[in-house]
Amino acid sequence: MTCMKNIVVLISGGGSNMLAIARAAVRRQWAEKLNARIAAVISNRPDARGLQLSADLGLNTQVVDHTAFADRADPRTAFDDVLRQTIDAHEPALLVLAGFMHILTPGFVVHYEGRMLNIHPSLLPAFTGLHTHRRAIDAGCHFAGATVHQMTTELDHGPILAQAVVPVLPDDTADALAARVLTQEHLIYPQAIETFLKSLP
Ligand code: GAR
Repeated sequence: MTCMKNIVVLISGGGSNMLAIARAAVRRQWAEKLNARIAAVISNRPDARGLQLSADLGLNTQVVDHTAFADRADPRTAFDDVLRQTIDAHEPALLVLAGFMHILTPGFVVHYEGRMLNIHPSLLPAFTGLHTHRRAIDAGCHFAGATVHQMTTELDHGPILAQAVVPVLPDDTADALAARVLTQEHLIYPQAIETFLKSLP
């Protein structure tokens, strides 16, 4: 039997992108057609709602709590080392960051270079970092959106694989804009992952 392409998904919160990806995997028959499956969903927060959603779907869930490393000499590296070991136990072909809200060390990113995707809620290269929707509104943008990109060691940078554009409406709030963008994230992320899986050897 051919080796399965394992996908590991990293989350921190709501998990709606994870859910969209997991649903696409079933609907689009990734196991049968692409020989790919979600091997695990890993959260850095034990209370992430996406963990329960994942478990409800029958997915393998794990937690690597970043707060448990706070007293280490180098907490970020210590956390990333354990996270990397936890991920690598699944022999991933693809690592998918789906609302993973923790900055990873360059060494971690290099380890998965070329097989690590992220979704960011802005039209990169505009508005890297946090509070993207508030900043887009405050800047007077007429359009906002989301970007799927390959990860590089520079935060929210890397080759762009897909983007979705939504209008910024008069009197928009950051929450309303975020919700409008999120609906588009759920479309472009599974599609970009599927395209990426097809490009893998
Ligand atoms: C999404 O909007 C995603 O783009 C964003 O967090 C949200 C997670 O929602 N990611 C980032 O800001 C990463 N820099 P979800 O947990 O419901 O998928």
